[in-house]
Amino acid sequence: MLARFESEEIHTTKIEVDLNPIIQYCIHRLNEQTSDKGIIINFDDSSKADVFADPSLLEIIFENLLTNAVKYSNGGSQIDVFLDQSGEEVKCSIRDYGIGMKPEQIMRVFDRFYRSEEARSTEARGHGIGMAIVKRLADFQNIEVVYKSEISKGTTATLIFKQK
Ligand SMILES: Nc1ncnc2c1ncn2[C@@H]1O[C@H](COP(=O)(O)OP(=O)(O)O)[C@@H](O)[C@H]1O
Ligand SMILES: [Mg+2]
Repeated sequence: MLARFESEEIHTTKIEVDLNPIIQYCIHRLNEQTSDKGIIINFDDSSKADVFADPSLLEIIFENLLTNAVKYSNGGSQIDVFLDQSGEEVKCSIRDYGIGMKPEQIMRVFDRFYRSEEARSTEARGHGIGMAIVKRLADFQNIEVVYKSEISKGTTATLIFKQK
């Protein structure tokens, strides 16, 4: 999939879209993984945030971020998803209380094939491609992706939609 996004032009249809149903749908699709690990995803389903973007690309972005949050969480923990719309700026944060990352690992999150030592030593499988895709799709739509993380404490990934 990454190859497709790298070699081909991305064709998008930007429309005004509410992030809420997209997030709910992605959370719903993760039901099996979350119940297997006893993880609860907290999301205020009355929250709303309109952005100007391509809904199918947003779905890929949220699916990857939420899947990572679940994969790199400890069993029995929670994940908090926040939507925040203030004026023209929309922010969405996905916070987990999992394995976390060191500063030098955060710097490499978007590198293709990168997986931290801690990630590799979990049961979670992966190829280190998801975040490279997310970065490309986010750049393309003018969405900033910011990571805050502390090793063994958890990670917050924030999407900042810079223009409507
Ligand atoms: N929520 C998170 N908590 C801890 N580490 C993360 C998180 N999200 C991403 N990472 C780190 O970034 C790496 C790259 O992520 P990604 O491209 O999605 O690859 P994959 O999930 O296949 O390992 C992960 O292997 C992990 O080391
Ligand atoms: Mg991933």
